[in-house]
Amino acid sequence: MPVVHLNTKLVRLLCYALGVSALLITYAFYLYEPHVELAFYDRDWVHRELEVVKPLAGCFNVDRVSNKYNISENLYGPKRNEVQSGVQLRMGLDCYNLAGTIRSAPRNGPQDIPNDERVHFHTYWRSDLAPFGPRQEYMLKSFFATQNADTSRLILWSNGELGHNPILQSYMRKYPRAFALKIVDIPGLAVGTALDGSPLLKRKDAKAWVDGDLIRLLLLWNYGGVWVDMDSLLTRDLDPLLEHEFVTQWDCYDKQYRPFNGALMRFHKHSPYLCEAFHIMLTDTPPRADSTDWGATLYLKLWRRLVAENIPPFKILPFCFSDGRSCRLDNRLPDPFEKDDPQGKWTMGLGMENGGPLDNVLHNIFGVHLHNQWDKEFPENGWVDRLLLKRYEKALGA
Ligand SMILES: *[C@@H]1O[C@H](CO)[C@@H](O)[C@H](O)[C@H]1NC(C)=O
Repeated sequence: MPVVHLNTKLVRLLCYALGVSALLITYAFYLYEPHVELAFYDRDWVHRELEVVKPLAGCFNVDRVSNKYNISENLYGPKRNEVQSGVQLRMGLDCYNLAGTIRSAPRNGPQDIPNDERVHFHTYWRSDLAPFGPRQEYMLKSFFATQNADTSRLILWSNGELGHNPILQSYMRKYPRAFALKIVDIPGLAVGTALDGSPLLKRKDAKAWVDGDLIRLLLLWNYGGVWVDMDSLLTRDLDPLLEHEFVTQWDCYDKQYRPFNGALMRFHKHSPYLCEAFHIMLTDTPPRADSTDWGATLYLKLWRRLVAENIPPFKILPFCFSDGRSCRLDNRLPDPFEKDDPQGKWTMGLGMENGGPLDNVLHNIFGVHLHNQWDKEFPENGWVDRLLLKRYEKALGA
């Protein structure tokens, strides 16, 4: 090996150059905010999966649309609220403020309507994952404190019996018409869809796909309504959104290949959008074993096929409507699990006190997605405890 003798002058020069560059970089950071997001996508995958727009399966053809689904009303009918923005909602409270523009028409709603005319809200809890305890119960409290128990119905689906759980029994007693427990029968739900009898339904290696993407789409197909992930807290009545069929935006960055999220979705019974989604699930690349974002790819493929055939696509709710955590430090919701000071500041000098700016924001948006984190407790007197949980309990008279 050749020995390199660095002469000391050269070393000193190098150190000096490094020092100057460090100073320049620090100064540049002081003047400019860097925006960098690095993600690596396999070029073959992008081309094969996303760039090629395949044809729809024909679910929107007049002779194939279910008589339970009204195309002229759902796709072309007049709507009261606009739920998309048209610009990226990255500045200040723009997204939260836009959510606040969405309001129901004043009306005297029907009281205590029959089960099958109610808006069904579906959520799922695996009976073998963890016991259903007070931490999980907050999702139910959020539902009954914010949604209309006379016109909607929450169904807690599971892969096993939950009926012996005392918390859930108390909800069944209190809301016999607005709350139900049911066990998911995947092959049964798939009857009459493109996935009927498919071996995909029984894939044991792709649990996230079956428990996640598949179940929610099959339930919405069979019953219609709203899907909401169990790890959410609802903050406001979803009624003014329900004239639309929608998924949500993944986060405020508008990821090119992963723009959509299915944590909160709304589709009508026998919606042709779902019929097309089943066709893609059946005929396109099956999910990888560990995939947790397969749904995002599915909704993107579907959206592109729809517009390619001039069919009005489903809507995409801006990120903060249900997931205000998924943005930058300066405009995302505070961490739900971190202790905070009621007199402290959230962002941009905005307060977290009762009746303050954060409180107002929570009345504009529709929910807060907690991204699992089931092992964490909400800190006592933290913002979630003060502005959401205690209010739910007050509203429910507990
Ligand atoms: C579908 O909706 C339109 C517009 O709201 C309505 O006029 C029509 O009667 C509906 N069709 C059916 C079959 O319900």
